[in-house]
Amino acid sequence: MEVTICTDYAEVSRLAAGIVADMVRAMPDAVLGFATGSSPLGLYKELIRLHKEEGLDFSGITTFNLDEYYGLDGDHPQSYRSFMNENLFNHINVPMEQTHVPSGTAEDWLEACEAYEDLIEDMGGIDVQVLGIGSDGHIAFNEPGSSLGSRTRRVYLTQQTIEDNARFFERREDVPTSAISMGVGTILEAATCVMVVSGANKAPALAAAIEGPVTAMNTASALQWHPDTWVFCDEAAAADLEMRDYYNWIRKQREADS
Ligand code: GLP
Repeated sequence: MEVTICTDYAEVSRLAAGIVADMVRAMPDAVLGFATGSSPLGLYKELIRLHKEEGLDFSGITTFNLDEYYGLDGDHPQSYRSFMNENLFNHINVPMEQTHVPSGTAEDWLEACEAYEDLIEDMGGIDVQVLGIGSDGHIAFNEPGSSLGSRTRRVYLTQQTIEDNARFFERREDVPTSAISMGVGTILEAATCVMVVSGANKAPALAAAIEGPVTAMNTASALQWHPDTWVFCDEAAAADLEMRDYYNWIRKQREADS
């Protein structure tokens, strides 16, 4: 894992967006994996800026989102489909039919999950996957205890995740208790992963993911097995990292070499 400790959230977003933008420039028909939550919002704003100001062309890309709340239709204001439309897709030139978010209302969710996996495979796999991290270390909605080989499926959320996500809903009772989520195994197949992390509440989960043992109790730790993962975090999120001086030193060396 390449860990970059940034001065602030703006730098986290700019550097992470740079990896996605470089991929789109190099491969106009790239397959991009997107995440929801507050963490990637700055990255999406930067991609929108690059599109509007520098003409970054998204017309040939295909996108797959990590997850969707079970029971919420794409039109629901709190659905992850609505989130992506509002925060990215409506502001760039990707044709909507090239964007994919798991269905939260499929009649046969098992079949829909298999079809989602098949579609990712048919498109040649994900080139760059954007990720956040939950305060319990989850990626997508792979809660503690999820198999590190898991595939897209229905997952029940922990009380912690329900609490964390309640801020987006009017009442806590409105937060769905399960979701359709890509599995850890699905995510590990992306060629490159870019994780954005911000804020002190993520510091313990991030330290466990990067420096702790690989364990299903913190599914982000599975990224230690991934050959090309970039983590961009701010100072607050980096607070519990033991090797922070080393990460900073690597960054300086890399900049000096380029
Ligand atoms: C949800 C999403 C995750 C996201 C996490 C953290 O659980 N399923 O993909 O990483 O929230 O969200 P935030 O960035 O808002 O802290």
